[in-house]
Amino acid sequence: MTTPATRPLHRDWRGSRGLFDGLRARWAEQRRLEAHARLEDDLRGLWREACAGVGLCQYISVAAGLTVRTPRFGALRVVRGRTTFTTELLPGGEPEDITKHALRLAHSLGFHGLRVDPIGGRWVRIVLLDSDPLRDGFALRRLITTRADETVILGRAEDGVTLGHALADAAHLAVQGQNGAGKSAFTYGLLAQVCAAPDVLIAGSDITGLVLGRAWTGTAHHDWQTTGTRDLLAHAALLDRLVAEMDRRLDTMPPRRDKIIPTTTTPLVLVVLEEFPGLLRAAQAKDKKLAERITSAVLRLVSEGRKAAFRVLMLAQRFEANAVGGGYARDQFALRLSFRVPGESLVMLHGEDARKLGPEHANSAPGIAYLSAPGHDCTRLRAPYLGDYGEFCDRIARHGRRAS
Ligand SMILES: Nc1ncnc2c1ncn2[C@@H]1O[C@H](COP(=O)(O)OP(=O)(O)OP(=O)(O)O)[C@@H](O)[C@H]1O
Ligand SMILES: [Mg+2]
Repeated sequence: MTTPATRPLHRDWRGSRGLFDGLRARWAEQRRLEAHARLEDDLRGLWREACAGVGLCQYISVAAGLTVRTPRFGALRVVRGRTTFTTELLPGGEPEDITKHALRLAHSLGFHGLRVDPIGGRWVRIVLLDSDPLRDGFALRRLITTRADETVILGRAEDGVTLGHALADAAHLAVQGQNGAGKSAFTYGLLAQVCAAPDVLIAGSDITGLVLGRAWTGTAHHDWQTTGTRDLLAHAALLDRLVAEMDRRLDTMPPRRDKIIPTTTTPLVLVVLEEFPGLLRAAQAKDKKLAERITSAVLRLVSEGRKAAFRVLMLAQRFEANAVGGGYARDQFALRLSFRVPGESLVMLHGEDARKLGPEHANSAPGIAYLSAPGHDCTRLRAPYLGDYGEFCDRIARHGRRAS
């Protein structure tokens, strides 16, 4: 309780500074609100002009003539350097109408790009991006999954969103790219994320011996991997062994089931085929029958493996049909990634939609890839990067699942 005895008789200097601080804070807040209102007005005007400029508008006939209606600008928010605003879609409009013109709209507002996040009803949130997420590196934190159906990071897309994929999803993965474009680095990142999961087995063939092999010594995966070019028969034998395991699973499928759910006893088998065209070429040069044996084993894994919890990750400089076991084999890959490749190779793997990106993508920096996948709009992304090769070896040594 305050009594006259405790109340200060004179306001001392500390009190007046407190009063002054309060006024200063109020002025600062006032200035901040004014700046915010100016920015909001500017962006509202620019948004209207930009939408009209790209044709994202409707012409309405009124008594005074024609008037242009654009998606209504709602409220601006700037939080911790992130600028967003809400906007109401035009009648009959969809978020894709904005996404389609994202780059041109963002540039008109003075930003590098934008992302459209639906909020609900007719309103969406526009997130403005002030730098190119593909230009900046994307370090992969020490992230490991514990189950095959957990999402692993594939990369960061142009709109700043992190894209993921669960191995348990029924898709084989095709990765192509020229020398030094980032295929192996991408695979290091992917394998480092799944190497500890008790229901994942990382198997496969790697003539380079860098992705698979020595780095996996002492893990449960090592016994299912073959490397090098000295013993090509070993590659064929390993692929036959994988096919035999696939057949065993298909033959012993539990009743009322049409696919194997990965468990610790029947793990999802990720069959990595690093530089597969190189393996086929080497086998052809030695013995045509050996090349046929390898091709037919891979063909069986890609065409029948999904139900038996087998996923194939095939890497090639160029995903030409005859280099990867034929057009039928290539068609089995649902998730496709192209690091730097000539325009024609991009179209070959991703279809005509990718053609317009061809010239730009042909000069991409290492680690930038074009992705197409079922249920995804085709997009470019920056793959995560572990750092040097030693870091990959360290992560596999530390986290790689041990044989029980
Ligand atoms: N995501 C990335 N971010 C940053 N740099 C990367 C990335 N991916 C690759 N690089 C750089 O590019 C180099 C080559 O990458 P990588 O070895 O993965 O290419 P590659 O496609 O496997 O080539 P090759 O066909 O010769 O095997 C790496 O050593 C690294 O310096
Ligand atoms: Mg490589």
